Amino acid sequence: MKILITGADGQLGADLCKTLKNHKVIPLTIADGDITDFSFVKKQCLAHKPDVIINTAAYVLVDACGDNRDLAYQVNALGARNMAVAAEQIGAALVQISTDYVFGGEEKLRTTPYTEFDVPVPCSAYGASKLAGEDYARHLCRRHFIIRSSALFGAAGAMGKGGNFVETMLRMAKERTELRVVNDQIFSPTYTPDLAARIAQLIDTQYYGIVHITNSGACSWYEFTVEILKQAGIKTPVAPITSDQYPQKAKRPAYSALDNYQLRLLNMAAMPAWQDALKRYLIEKGYIA
Ligand SMILES: NC(=O)c1ccc[n+]([C@@H]2O[C@H](COP(=O)([O-])OP(=O)(O)OC[C@H]3O[C@@H](n4cnc5c(N)ncnc54)[C@H](OP(=O)(O)O)[C@@H]3O)[C@@H](O)[C@H]2O)c1
Repeated sequence: MKILITGADGQLGADLCKTLKNHKVIPLTIADGDITDFSFVKKQCLAHKPDVIINTAAYVLVDACGDNRDLAYQVNALGARNMAVAAEQIGAALVQISTDYVFGGEEKLRTTPYTEFDVPVPCSAYGASKLAGEDYARHLCRRHFIIRSSALFGAAGAMGKGGNFVETMLRMAKERTELRVVNDQIFSPTYTPDLAARIAQLIDTQYYGIVHITNSGACSWYEFTVEILKQAGIKTPVAPITSDQYPQKAKRPAYSALDNYQLRLLNMAAMPAWQDALKRYLIEKGYIA
């Protein structure tokens, strides 16, 4: 298959390029052009005529999205619209990458993982703009996969964030005598090679629609940090704090764990546990043997 990937130098994009190397991959980065520019998107699609387009490109800075709502909607919503329109015009399937942050805005605190059949209610401009991108993809490209994932960590690190959470905690544990980490936001950490491998399987099928793909299990940022340091053999103490004690500009969901319900309905293998994924990440990066 010919597969066009946007955000190809990003955290997920880089692992998708590696995982899909047996296909003809067309990697696009922001240096090639901007997904908000429809003429660029259309030109690329007409020139390469891919069978599948995977749109990982996004404005991923959650706080900055609140400050720059226009940019958030331009990239995350209209960028996805451009990819969907172009995909439909050339008869390609579209894989639109989305996020657990489309959830978490309900008044009642959720305590069980969200399935693909739950109605999303975002609590931030980032989540709302990504949800608008999902809607465009769904309505404008008939053969679409909306892939929702969560708290990504991969070797390339999030370009937009200057690294990923695992790297940040490893660095801070060396710089500080104690870490204080939020314990009241629950989610499912996900290793980008595991996500890329499952996307590779899905695009070989016609199981279109919304699919949640995260590593199995859920934890808080505090619990994630404790496990990171434990596996890396670092003894820096970690203290749990509340979101109120660590104010951030944009609200984060208190609970956004995703149930990979569709994968179960489709009889696809369960995703590896996040602790196992973390171990493989630390090995890949050479932190442990
Ligand atoms: N990171 C997470 O924890 C997380 C969780 C759930 C879902 N997701 C979703 O997963 C996807 C991939 O995230 P990631 O962590 O791999 O992010 P990333 O490393 O920041 O990759 C995003 C890529 O998109 C590019 N990009 C940004 N704006 C663009 C534009 N207007 N036109 C073309 N390219 C543009 C970025 O380039 P520059 O960096 O050079 O601007 C970067 O290469 C995103 O759709 C995100 O919403 C991420």
